[in-house]
Amino acid sequence: MAKFKRIAVLTSGGDAPGMNAAIRSVTRAAIYNGLEVIGIRHGYKGLIEGYSKPLKVHTVSNIIQLGGTILKTARCMEFKTPEGRKEAYDYLKRRQIGGVVVIGGDGTFTGARVFNEEFDIPFIGIPGTIDNDIYGTDYTIGYDTALNTVISAVDKIRDTASAHNRLFFIEVMGADAGFIALRSGIACGAEAILVPEVKNQVSTLKSFLEDGFRRKKSSNIIIVAEGSEEGGAYEIAKKVKEDFQEYSVRVTVLGHIQRGGSPSVFDRVSASRLGYAAVEALLDDQKSAMVGLQNNKIALVPFRQAVKLHKELNKELLNISKVLSI
Ligand code: F6P
Repeated sequence: MAKFKRIAVLTSGGDAPGMNAAIRSVTRAAIYNGLEVIGIRHGYKGLIEGYSKPLKVHTVSNIIQLGGTILKTARCMEFKTPEGRKEAYDYLKRRQIGGVVVIGGDGTFTGARVFNEEFDIPFIGIPGTIDNDIYGTDYTIGYDTALNTVISAVDKIRDTASAHNRLFFIEVMGADAGFIALRSGIACGAEAILVPEVKNQVSTLKSFLEDGFRRKKSSNIIIVAEGSEEGGAYEIAKKVKEDFQEYSVRVTVLGHIQRGGSPSVFDRVSASRLGYAAVEALLDDQKSAMVGLQNNKIALVPFRQAVKLHKELNKELLNISKVLSI
């Protein structure tokens, strides 16, 4: 028997395709277990200001296929303050909400962790960010869809790159992590991949290009994570152009197109599993933890680990990407 009759769900931070599938799953799993569900709008801001709407079985019909989030999202500064969190707590108490599921990334989980150190209403997290940079889960919701968006764009760019014998620098998202760059780079057969986790990549890139030039390689696709150590795609392209005047260079920044669109099968299924698992965790009296996917199994990971520990890029993939681009 649950100690409470009502839970809340919210999305926070950058949106990611599959968040709606997770909202649907949380709502239906909770109702199935006899709970009421309140949808909090605009992330933590909604908890402080009381923006909410009840979620029923039918409210979450026909949303599994939608990108974005029906609950809206925001990055909230007030929740970083003790006063803001106290207001959120008072709101939850007033509404007799006994547990909260938060869907987002590390900023979201940092707020949830601090809240759970101060107050007794349990928070459970679902990793939702296209960046896949959360420790304790192999995949975050939205990552797979973003990858598919990237490769369908890069495939098109490769057509024109090869028609003109051009060198293309394509910037993908990842302010602090190279997960999108690495995986999409392998999937689209990129000649080189630049990520924030590896230093001094421009000099390696230059010798690689020199080699290719000698072998009369006609076009090149270079994937650059936006947070790469030596700059985004425009900066890297400029540095390369200084030494390769003969190259016809172009830059494409894919930008927020990567955050939208209908979620892939993988993201829909992951979101459905994780939403269900989050409700189970609340019913099981868990708190201050994220539900994640490890080796295709559900894992419960304390927020303090999820936000503190660093998720490493897969070294094997990095190596494969180099070998395959000879
Ligand atoms: O969602 C994560 C992320 O996509 C990062 O890769 C990117 O740097 C950031 O969000 C940009 O978000 P916004 O434009 O919403 O500030």
